[in-house]
Amino acid sequence: MEFEVNSIDATKQLSSCHIIGIFEDGELSPSATAIDSKCNNIISNLISQKDLEGKPGQCLMLHNVPDLSSSRLLIIGLGKKEKLKDKVFIKALSAAAAAINENIEDVACYLTEVEVAEKDIDWNTRQASQILTASTYKFDQLKSDDDKTSKALGKITFPASDTNTETVALAAKQGGAIADAMSYVKDLANLPGNICTPTYLADKAKELAKSSKQLTCKVLNESEMAKLGMGSLLSVSKGSREEAKLITLNYKGGTKNAKPYVFVGKGLTFDAGGISLKPPAQMDEMKYDMCGGASVFGLIHAVAALELPINVIGVIPSSENLPDGQANKPGDIVTSMAGKTIEILNTDAEGRLILCDALSYVEKFKPEIVVDIATLTGACIIALGNVAQAVIGNDQDLIDQLIESGTQACDPAWQLPLWDEYQEQLKSNFADMANIGGKEAGTVTAACFLSRFTEDYNWAHLDIAGTAWKSGKEKGATGRPVPLLVNYLLDKAYGND
Ligand code: BES
Ligand code: MN
Ligand code: ZN
Repeated sequence: MEFEVNSIDATKQLSSCHIIGIFEDGELSPSATAIDSKCNNIISNLISQKDLEGKPGQCLMLHNVPDLSSSRLLIIGLGKKEKLKDKVFIKALSAAAAAINENIEDVACYLTEVEVAEKDIDWNTRQASQILTASTYKFDQLKSDDDKTSKALGKITFPASDTNTETVALAAKQGGAIADAMSYVKDLANLPGNICTPTYLADKAKELAKSSKQLTCKVLNESEMAKLGMGSLLSVSKGSREEAKLITLNYKGGTKNAKPYVFVGKGLTFDAGGISLKPPAQMDEMKYDMCGGASVFGLIHAVAALELPINVIGVIPSSENLPDGQANKPGDIVTSMAGKTIEILNTDAEGRLILCDALSYVEKFKPEIVVDIATLTGACIIALGNVAQAVIGNDQDLIDQLIESGTQACDPAWQLPLWDEYQEQLKSNFADMANIGGKEAGTVTAACFLSRFTEDYNWAHLDIAGTAWKSGKEKGATGRPVPLLVNYLLDKAYGND
């Protein structure tokens, strides 16, 4: 996406489509006012005829408005002026994005000039740039040619004043980078398990590393992992014909001695449950069990595109989980890289089995913080639905920062408790721990399991089981929690803390 930021008056700006906002009380945004007076009160007439109410997300596309410097005028309702909160603004932007048809190649978006409660024009612009860019996404690479249609939108112009042009331009670029990263994540995630295998992900990582001088990639195969003692991770891939991979993407944008921010993403390219086989309904959606890993790919993609001046490492343990003569059996006991033994009471709790060894592996990077991201538990969907991802960890500052980043990015996370009482549920009669903790508090006990491998650093875990993809008619990956993660690192790179 190309972005232009300028202070040209909306009545003089050239574009294929001007996007402007109006409020429910009949008040117009500054550009709407200017266009209204230049174009014979066309907007206020529509309002007085009650053809336009300005309800949140309401939209009307006008064509060939006389005296307008644009061939289309898209009018978006913003609701009540005094109530313009971030969520209403997002709703308006999403409505605008949906109304832009396939022929429109460039737009001038004036929605960002309005005042959103507690936000500034940079935030407005970042959101607008992200939402409008993301709206061009389509996954049609596996459909035959005649089905293919994709939006032509290639350029967005945003307004700024002469004094803030630079920060607004940066915000537009950041929003675009987040959207590009989300599209990248969605592509990886939407690919089926027969195409997107651990080896495919490893190849994609090598390809990504070529895109930036600051980025390198290292892939460990099964025999290299065996040498490191990753008995837990390898027990999962034993039941699959696809070789497991441990992928590391290392971005060096900071000083040599700056400790890296480390992200570990679950990369289960298909989770059938193993011998504890899952029921058939919606099992196809378990191709999305690599969304945590995909979000780490996306994060690195954005960090490299924005050339952030920090060090960031992404680690993706990748495997399939299938039933097979060599697969884990309930009751099997394996030894993790950390030396702790695990009784596998349910082979479907495989995410933690691959993550625990990856979490031991990343100790060697002497991380500033470690965040793991995983579609770890169905229980998370029961607890939080598809609105918030769960966050849980051993460092309250890190958790608070992730929650704040999620709020800022409209990609929310909600904390669950990591209390000792829950650790009890992981007791095993035969090994150091069991890999499941029973029906109750499934998301918490999964995190309790991981916490036993993260004692040496500041760590948080994001369970994205409910947020990483949508089911039903709109089935598809969402690209979450890339906005949260990129916001967190933007804060680290440029923020005050
Ligand atoms: N990948 C699943 C979790 C999942 C299930 C995510 C459905 C999204 C939708 C994970 O590997 C899993 O199977 N977890 C089990 C754990 C249980 C056996 C303790 C679960 O949640 O049922
Ligand atoms: Mn599973
Ligand atoms: Zn899984």
